[in-house]
Amino acid sequence: MIEFQSVADVRRWVRAAREASRRVALVPTMGYLHEGHLSLVDEARRRADAVLMSVFVNPLQFGPTEDLSRYPRDLPRDRALAAGRGVDALFVPAVDTMYPPGSEIRVVPGPTAERWEGAARPGHFTGVLTVVAKLFHLVEPDIATFGRKDIQQAVLIRQMVRDLDWPLEIVVVPTVREPDGLALSSRNAYLDPASRRQALVLSGSLRAAHEAFARGERRAAGIAAAMRRVLEQEPAVPVDYVAIAEPVALTPVDVVDQHTVVAIAARVGGTRLIDNIILGQGLA
Ligand code: PAJ
Repeated sequence: MIEFQSVADVRRWVRAAREASRRVALVPTMGYLHEGHLSLVDEARRRADAVLMSVFVNPLQFGPTEDLSRYPRDLPRDRALAAGRGVDALFVPAVDTMYPPGSEIRVVPGPTAERWEGAARPGHFTGVLTVVAKLFHLVEPDIATFGRKDIQQAVLIRQMVRDLDWPLEIVVVPTVREPDGLALSSRNAYLDPASRRQALVLSGSLRAAHEAFARGERRAAGIAAAMRRVLEQEPAVPVDYVAIAEPVALTPVDVVDQHTVVAIAARVGGTRLIDNIILGQGLA
């Protein structure tokens, strides 16, 4: 696996790959890799010939009171995991490389970014779309893979690609979980053993939503009630939102079907966690 810090090196590598008629996939990450990230690599390798992973903790997508300075980092470990999974090139830019002094243009999403995560994290999705747009321009990939775990992010990236006429394919990959249901996340590193146990209430409530759907419940209010019964068992975990929404723009619905997204955000210990399911699929 080759590693770059500079934009010029990335462009050179991509040009060479193109000249060899190789399809290029981009896997954007903030590092501290886990099986979720690596499943994006697996999918990228299935669909392309050359895989470039970026590792960049993007300051633009963190709010002033968020965890930018303590976000977990371990580049040597990331290198080993990425190489072991078949990543061909790792792009690890410095903050100044992505945002040189004077850089001020942003990619601003529309109303889809105003609810759920966007309401809780003002400016977050502007930061995400801006860095992802820059990566798309730098790498000009044929495809890019994103996790369904961050479903609103995936929805907004699809919108950006559509609205800005980007000629690349966005592939969204199912959420990878621990055996007990907890969705993998770099932020799980913050959880002490007690919080780790409490965190199961997120996937537990989603499981209850799926079970209610499987029993025939079709009212969003009924799904929410089934989730509440689980959430009430863990009063130490304040819920930020439960979203029951259609999958294209995440607009809330009153009546659900198999494609409906059920998403939750909650605070466990000091850590904000998110998770979601497609109602017809459950935690699978
Ligand atoms: P990060 O949180 O590092 O996640 C990188 C990618 O991995 C995202 O597409 C995310 O949805 C996916 N991912 C995370 N946990 C997953 C899981 N358990 N199963 C499957 N996929 C999972 O998301 C970001 O970074 C940033 O916002 C980024 C897109 C890189 C822009 O800075």
